[in-house]
Amino acid sequence: MLIKNIGILAGIVPEGVLRKEGASQGIVDCLENAWLLIEDGRISAFGPMSTCPSVIPSSPSVIPSEVEESLDARGGMILPGFCDSHTHIVYAGSRDGEFLDKINGLSYEEIAARGGGILNSSDLLNATSEDSLFDQSMARVKEMMAKGTVAMEIKSGYGLNPKGEMKMLRVIDRIRKTVPVAVKSTFLGAHAIGRGYSHEDYVKAVIDMIPEAAKLADFVDVFCDEGFFTVEDTDRILSAANGLLKPKIHANELAVSGGVQVGVKHGALSVDHLERTTDAEIEALRGSETMPTMLPGSSFFLGIPYGRAKDYINAGLGVALASDYNPGSSPSGDMRFVMALGCIRMRLTPAQAFNAVTLNSAYAMGVSDDLGSITRGKKASLILTQPGWTLTKLPYLHHTPFISKVFVEGKEL
Ligand code: NIG
Ligand code: FE
Repeated sequence: MLIKNIGILAGIVPEGVLRKEGASQGIVDCLENAWLLIEDGRISAFGPMSTCPSVIPSSPSVIPSEVEESLDARGGMILPGFCDSHTHIVYAGSRDGEFLDKINGLSYEEIAARGGGILNSSDLLNATSEDSLFDQSMARVKEMMAKGTVAMEIKSGYGLNPKGEMKMLRVIDRIRKTVPVAVKSTFLGAHAIGRGYSHEDYVKAVIDMIPEAAKLADFVDVFCDEGFFTVEDTDRILSAANGLLKPKIHANELAVSGGVQVGVKHGALSVDHLERTTDAEIEALRGSETMPTMLPGSSFFLGIPYGRAKDYINAGLGVALASDYNPGSSPSGDMRFVMALGCIRMRLTPAQAFNAVTLNSAYAMGVSDDLGSITRGKKASLILTQPGWTLTKLPYLHHTPFISKVFVEGKEL
């Protein structure tokens, strides 16, 4: 399929660039008035309209003799679909009761301490059938896809016992096999202490779950934070998962936890949240393979600080942004809103925020060799906007409908 008359083709990245760090995070390469060719679900070529195959049939050598289908973008922008590297969308029921508690002044920690929070979701999940859990979760997956998310990571962590955790991982696997978008699965057994366990017994139980979990999951995660799991717990769990599951860590949401450092030590793909940061975290991340990932939707919803994304970028690091879509701290999977919060509340430029929700978030879930940018050979999982949209308008007009079509591996959703 050939897409013609693209107003702005945004997010062009050379082959082999898997993340953007430092000054390069502020650069989004674009082509105005462009065409793009999709073959076998992948981007096979693109260029300015003056070289468009249907305009000059014999010009670029990469063009196949026959273009099966052509689409007029009518000046709409094409961008890589959003990659959401941190979600908890497999959950049962709702926590709207806690929303009222929150409005009445209780903090996230206070709600959790009263047996609400993650344990509330765990009770609901353990009382829900696998089929119903799948159906409830699929509604959120479809909502995210319609909003332009073409890759999503999904965590377990509401089972909090072997049966419940495996049920969640099976549901994630079923989602992966059902939807066209890329899905990565993370075992987050260490999300809270499961009911009926002592702290120590539960850490041991999580370690025991790892071999079974590793049959379905790609990554392991630990909520390394005040009142949840310590650095020592995290170290033990990550050591047990070594060679089986690459880590992605929840760190520094509620306190400066040491989670960043232990994550980097174990070669984590990402360390996430980072609402609380000292310069030591930035130092620890320098020169590492770990992507600092911030979740402004949870800062917004919980009324806690926003991560110091600009300081990270100014220190030469890359930053990813993800939704954290979950019932307790971020009940939204809208990645354009995440991008808007990045700009409005974290003072990222639209270009920095764009790279944070595309290439860098793809990196943070291990798919940036295939997704996250306009690059020859990558999957054609793209958003076509309505006419007249620009990079700056995406976060600026943050709730105006902007999507004309979403393509996943070249097929319209
Ligand atoms: O990333 N912080 C820990 N886990 C989730 C919240 C989960 C919940 O409250 O249900 C988070 O914010
Ligand atoms: Fe989370």
